[in-house]
Amino acid sequence: MHFFEYRNGTLFCEDVDLARLAAETGTPAYVYSASTILSHYRRLDEVLAEVPHMICYAVKANSNIGILSLLAGENAGFDIVSGGELFRVVKAGGDAAKCTFAGVGKTEAEIRDALERGIFAFNVESEAELERINAIAGQLGVKAPIAVRVNPDVDAHTHKYISTGKSENKFGIAFERVFAVYANAAKLPNLKIRGVQMHIGSQITEAGPFAEAVEKMQPLVCKLKTLYGIEYFSIGGGMGIVYDPSLASGTTDWWAKDEKPLTLEGYAEAVVPKLKALGLKILVEPGRFMVGNAGVLLARVQYVKAGDIKKFVIVDAGMNDLIRPALYQSFHEIVPVTQRAGALEKVDVVGPVCESGDFFAEERELPPLEQGDLIALMSTGAYGATMSSNYNSRPLLPELLVKGDKVATIRTRQTPDDLIRNESLPSF
Ligand code: LLP
Repeated sequence: MHFFEYRNGTLFCEDVDLARLAAETGTPAYVYSASTILSHYRRLDEVLAEVPHMICYAVKANSNIGILSLLAGENAGFDIVSGGELFRVVKAGGDAAKCTFAGVGKTEAEIRDALERGIFAFNVESEAELERINAIAGQLGVKAPIAVRVNPDVDAHTHKYISTGKSENKFGIAFERVFAVYANAAKLPNLKIRGVQMHIGSQITEAGPFAEAVEKMQPLVCKLKTLYGIEYFSIGGGMGIVYDPSLASGTTDWWAKDEKPLTLEGYAEAVVPKLKALGLKILVEPGRFMVGNAGVLLARVQYVKAGDIKKFVIVDAGMNDLIRPALYQSFHEIVPVTQRAGALEKVDVVGPVCESGDFFAEERELPPLEQGDLIALMSTGAYGATMSSNYNSRPLLPELLVKGDKVATIRTRQTPDDLIRNESLPSF
């Protein structure tokens, strides 16, 4: 569900006319709906009501401090993967004591900083990492809270780049090794075993893999509770969203595959009863679900170019601004900001970057588009801005947060000076 809709033929974000906004701020630009994010957070909170829980928003999906501050205001926890993300959370008013720190490559400096700030727990991905955390905690004279990330070897049926819970992935500790790793952790004097964690992948569009993974983990989690008194079980993130509403058979909420939409309620039904029985605090780490459908990328058509076999609509946003189609062949709905009459045409929507991979859609049926027209790339609130770069020396985009009829600029457009701010001419 989201708060983007046409009113009198123009796309609005909440009560803000996007054609007007684009005229004021220029394009390309990311626009987010605060009410959408808040409603996702609150609805997830509601469906998990039957178990004690903490929602740790996966900061990597969208790490703008303006977004983080919205969630901090809801008392959310945060799932971080770097010292930089922890810095952002704290700057945004988030509570370090509600942060879980994931990732396979935590550096000494990151671990020290996280311990000094008093995070909730490290989700540990290897035995070498346990040793490192133990050593640093010893130097600081503290006990480091940890959970081990278990790889449940479940197929999440998602794109291979974002599937993480299979044994061939680099993530977590194999099922068979888990008890040995906990036994080792228990011997390390500066660690406090606090929980257990899993995450099977991202953009998962069926309830099945979630249920399967929780079920597979159940006996292990119970045993860890008995042996080490763990307090929590984090079931990770990964809930998929609707990218292509034409497949969603009536729901605007969640990706619907084979006419069987995965709803938030369906997700909860699949996991909550199993989780209730554990008598533990449950952590979830949603990123995409929280912000994905809450954002659009506004872009303006620069040229329409008819090739021999294809027609190209060249817009002012590029793969450096939104890399998902190039990297994952992902689908983003594209709509004209001002509705247009006329027969649909098959076009490629491409950016200005010097790479053939710089496309947003290939052979897409769209209403007729002309130079100067404004389009919205839908569902780009997650892994859009956070994965953008300065490739081709293109400035990072502004990010605008809408709430009702108000607009906050939560990031300004970079200037040419910003592009070279940290660079210098050599003195030799
Ligand atoms: N927890 C862990 C340990 C993760 O690795 C991730 C995502 C999440 C939570 C949040 O997953 P979500 O709820 O957002 O699916 N760039 C890719 C997605 C990469 C996801 C990486 N890990 C994309 O644009 O689709």
